[in-house]
Amino acid sequence: TFLVILAVVVSYVLGSIPAASWLASSRGVDIRKVGSGNSGATNVLRSLGKGPAAAVAAFDILKGALVVWLARALGLSPEWVGLCGVAAVVGHNFSPFLNFRGGKGVATSFGTIAALDPVVGLGVFVLGVATMWLTRFVSAGSILGGLTAAILVVALGRPAWLMVVIVFLAALLIWQHRSNIERLTAGKESRLGEKVR
Ligand code: G3P
Repeated sequence: TFLVILAVVVSYVLGSIPAASWLASSRGVDIRKVGSGNSGATNVLRSLGKGPAAAVAAFDILKGALVVWLARALGLSPEWVGLCGVAAVVGHNFSPFLNFRGGKGVATSFGTIAALDPVVGLGVFVLGVATMWLTRFVSAGSILGGLTAAILVVALGRPAWLMVVIVFLAALLIWQHRSNIERLTAGKESRLGEKVR
């Protein structure tokens, strides 16, 4: 039990490392004050460009996958491995380094889901990226990716713990996009390639 609690806490702390905020502030940009105000790769793309955005996306995906790999390496049972993944995403979205604010958990959830279930991860990647590409809305692709994950994990008849983990992550992701959903329905969402200062 001590090991389980430690793993969950370490996962939360790893997940809470706010790569977008820290990288932006190292370049003199306050990520909360530009674009969507979100501490995530999309907003880094808008304000700092492709290289920094790719670095943030890679870091945030990796931290989501890493906690799953770590929990497995510690020999935790699958349910606890899943909880470690959830803890990382919760850390990303509600980070103690950002007064318990944070990002929307897209990259981190993707890393966690891909590590937990590569088939679901692949499905999410294909549909999510295709939607981003076709609509030019990263938020729309993210939301569709979340829905895809939830539908796939159920459709594939995965174990109940994995359904709970992935449906929870999808619901949290969609909740975190409520301002994007408002902007999308109002026709005010910013598109890929639009820059801000
Ligand atoms: O990175 C999350 C993405 O889905 C939306 O980001 O900055 O457009 O709210 P943003």
